[in-house]
Amino acid sequence: MKPFTTRTPKPALLAATALAVAALLLALGADSATAAGDPDKDPPLAPLPAVPEPPDNPITKAKAELGKLLFFDPKLTGDASLACGDCHDPKQGWGFADPISRGYPGTVHWRNSQTVVNTGFLGKLFWQGNSKSLERQAPTANKGAVAGNGESDVMESRLRQTPYYVEKFREVFGVMRPNLGMAWMAIATFERAMLTQRDTPLDRYLRGDKKALSPKAIKGMKLFTGKANCIECHNGPMLTDEKYYNLGLPRPVEFEESGINQVTFRWENYAKGVYETRYRKWKDDAGLYYTTKRLKDAGKFRTAPLRYIKYTAPYMHAGQFFTLEEVIDFYNEGGGENEFTKAYGNKTKILKPLGLTDDEKEALVAFLEELSGDEIKMSVPKVPPYAVMPDVPGLTQAKAKRIGLETYLASLGKQ
Ligand code: HEC
Ligand code: HEC
Repeated sequence: MKPFTTRTPKPALLAATALAVAALLLALGADSATAAGDPDKDPPLAPLPAVPEPPDNPITKAKAELGKLLFFDPKLTGDASLACGDCHDPKQGWGFADPISRGYPGTVHWRNSQTVVNTGFLGKLFWQGNSKSLERQAPTANKGAVAGNGESDVMESRLRQTPYYVEKFREVFGVMRPNLGMAWMAIATFERAMLTQRDTPLDRYLRGDKKALSPKAIKGMKLFTGKANCIECHNGPMLTDEKYYNLGLPRPVEFEESGINQVTFRWENYAKGVYETRYRKWKDDAGLYYTTKRLKDAGKFRTAPLRYIKYTAPYMHAGQFFTLEEVIDFYNEGGGENEFTKAYGNKTKILKPLGLTDDEKEALVAFLEELSGDEIKMSVPKVPPYAVMPDVPGLTQAKAKRIGLETYLASLGKQ
């Protein structure tokens, strides 16, 4: 398919068809950015389309509001001390501002916590790209040993012992009692519906408002899509091709210096089934290898989306860089080397020294900052308390399911 921005002026009828194709491309959104098999044909930067809505989990306001509460509610962890919102803090770019994220109490994570803003547009989640939807990602966060470390039945019981949730799950999903699977659906809906920014200066610029970006940022954008060749990987509406590369990033210092980080690193390798010889030898995060078990994939990570980048320092999968200037210096030098590029020769051939001047580096930073748009601010809601649920005489689970608790209570009232 021809990228729609390259179309030449056509007679009215043809132009209308081209517009329809353009609209379709926009509607396809992130998919159109990942579809291209040819690495030389980069989808252009594009405004964010409407967020894709899964047919089996339609967006409603009530569901998003319920998801918001659950996102900030620590009931969904092992010891009820940690919510999604603690590692994805609105004030820290909806991520966590340490190079390597905090973990479940007593542990640290092993990767940088990513922003959840705009994740509704991604087809591959996590640095390793190993989760395919927000609905499937949420339980891995709540149950994962170094994240939520929660046990399903306990977490579900906590929701069932919270009258507000009992009422809300009935309202939103039509069920008698809160159900964990539906909690993930609500959280995904919150992220999709409320954590999306579609009207950034970049979106406005790409829709035709040439004043939406400053002249410096426009210069940066031209470098991004030209001399600096960022567009080769950071393209389409989310500024990612969702492919995997080893850029030759340095090994995180935490892995060298801190015992508790070693614990998580060793455990992750063990849990992900790394062969003993490699387990003993490797000292760095092998990224995509854990999914594919192919050596050529060691140290490869998904191209990061860049839309909220101003707010999410430090950068890269283990927060190797604190500022955008450092990131650009890294690319300007043509990337780096690490144990995997040395052992398996798998550093991407795309990165080459760029020869950027100081002015050009500044322009690139200006572009990245301006495209990030306004910060999504939200105050953390108060979460609903537990209570002893009313005892309903004669109510069996089967009966409750059949007639609904409210109907049953009303029928008791009438007697
Ligand atoms: C202990 C900290 C912690 C908690 C709690 C946590 N996360 Fe995360 N989150 C992370 C880290 C670290 C990553 C990156 C992990 C990786 O790539 O392996 C991440 C990644 C993500 C991503 C992927 C973003 C992307 O660009 O691909 C989403 C979405 C997400 N988390 C949502 C959630 C939700 C929803 C919850 C609660 C159900 C949650 N997280 C709880 C630390 C946490
Ligand atoms: C060969 C593909 C490729 C090219 C070219 C490329 N990037 Fe990246 N970029 C990636 C990948 C892959 C990551 C994630 C790397 C990781 O953490 O291991 C990334 C991460 C980033 C991040 C950090 C994102 C975050 O959330 O921490 C920034 C910023 C960035 N790139 C900007 C740029 C800029 C600016 C250029 C052009 C100078 C560029 N990239 C060129 C593939 C590329």
